[in-house]
Amino acid sequence: MTMTDNKTGVWLIGAYGSVATTALIGARSLAKGLIKPTGLITELPEITRLLRRPAGTPRNDILEFDNLVFGGHEIRKSSFKDSIKQLQQTGIHIPSELLVKIKPDLKQIEPDIRQGLSFTAESPRAQRLPLAEMVNRLVDDITGFKKKHSLERVIVVNLASTEPPMAEGAHTKTLKGFETALSHTFASLSASRLGLFQPSVLYAYAAFKAGCPYINFTPSAGASIPALLQMARKLKLPHCGTDGKTGETLVKSALAPMFNYRNLNVLSWQGYNILGNLDGKALADPAACKSKIDSKSNVLSNILGYQPHSFVGIDYVPSLGDWKTAWDFIHFEGFLGTKMAMQFVWQGCDSILAAPLALDLIRLVDLAHRQGESGELAHLALFFKKPLGTKENNLHKQWELLKSKLI
Ligand SMILES: NC(=O)c1ccc[n+]([C@@H]2O[C@H](COP(=O)([O-])OP(=O)(O)OC[C@H]3O[C@@H](n4cnc5c(N)ncnc54)[C@H](O)[C@@H]3O)[C@@H](O)[C@H]2O)c1
Repeated sequence: MTMTDNKTGVWLIGAYGSVATTALIGARSLAKGLIKPTGLITELPEITRLLRRPAGTPRNDILEFDNLVFGGHEIRKSSFKDSIKQLQQTGIHIPSELLVKIKPDLKQIEPDIRQGLSFTAESPRAQRLPLAEMVNRLVDDITGFKKKHSLERVIVVNLASTEPPMAEGAHTKTLKGFETALSHTFASLSASRLGLFQPSVLYAYAAFKAGCPYINFTPSAGASIPALLQMARKLKLPHCGTDGKTGETLVKSALAPMFNYRNLNVLSWQGYNILGNLDGKALADPAACKSKIDSKSNVLSNILGYQPHSFVGIDYVPSLGDWKTAWDFIHFEGFLGTKMAMQFVWQGCDSILAAPLALDLIRLVDLAHRQGESGELAHLALFFKKPLGTKENNLHKQWELLKSKLI
């Protein structure tokens, strides 16, 4: 039996969201050979050459899409039918002949979408339970799914709405402190202390407890707190994050190195984003927006080696749907102190840019797990605004880092 006979589970947190639904549509369409793999890094000849080696040489073997089994957590009462309708309303065109062929596949996944964890939506009974018990429910959902489908492994992917940053304390610093604090109940986390825990962190802990690799595509804390970095290393589980790099930051991380290569001094870099989907709505909350801006904030100083005057703005414009526009103005200084400027406008469809990256990450994290890698997967920095395990934000260097790891 080759590795490709084994099934891998993918557990999506935020399963009915735009990115998750688009990734599912893409995965099922790719499995059936209905679409081209445009946007997937793992289908680039330069990468597949490294992943699918000729017979007789040591093989990496990449996971094929028909070997993926999906399930997940969600807090909205919804269905894939509704999620697809929502995607279409936000301006994404999905050919109807494609939908006819994959809708039954998505329907089949629905029994494996379980009630997620949210501080606001829990029942009064659940509010009185210690967090540890809430986490155990999440673990049981994931392990039950693994058993039900006889899966080799399950990769947990956080695609849920962005949360506010989590408050630091004894519970974030060590695994012991974290586990002690799980004796809190939801009810005891009064409004003023709500920031003590965020759901993404409890999901990440549950993923590791269930023995799963973990991907954090969102700016939320997830597994990035020291306590969980420690846990992943202890349990020898690989994970990566934070915050998928799909738009303005992607362009920034490709362009900023150019100013370094030419010894041009960047004086100011102003960026302004407008977007209109559910993610945009979530980011209209100043606390959640802070997490997004935090994950974008060190990119320039890490690449340039100094911090120019800089600003990142994000505004919710409902009529834009899933289409995001970013306008960046870069003011820079050249020879004889002459000041010059460049501007760019990026107009991208958010979920269309994000979904293939989520699929690439599932394949690459699966590979890392099979190869016995653990802890933060720094070679996947290319995918993230704030990569774990490295401060490398230069897109060109991140690309080389990925390739050198796969050789
Ligand atoms: N689209 C992009 O280009 C992009 C890029 C980088 C990061 N992201 C991040 O990916 C995430 C998903 O984006 P999206 O556009 O799909 O958002 P979305 O709002 O469409 O989907 C998020 C889903 O998560 C669900 N959810 C919220 N809290 C949950 C919880 N506690 N447990 C389970 N489910 C929960 C929501 O009900 C919703 O269905 C966001 O955090 C976003 O910031 C997106």
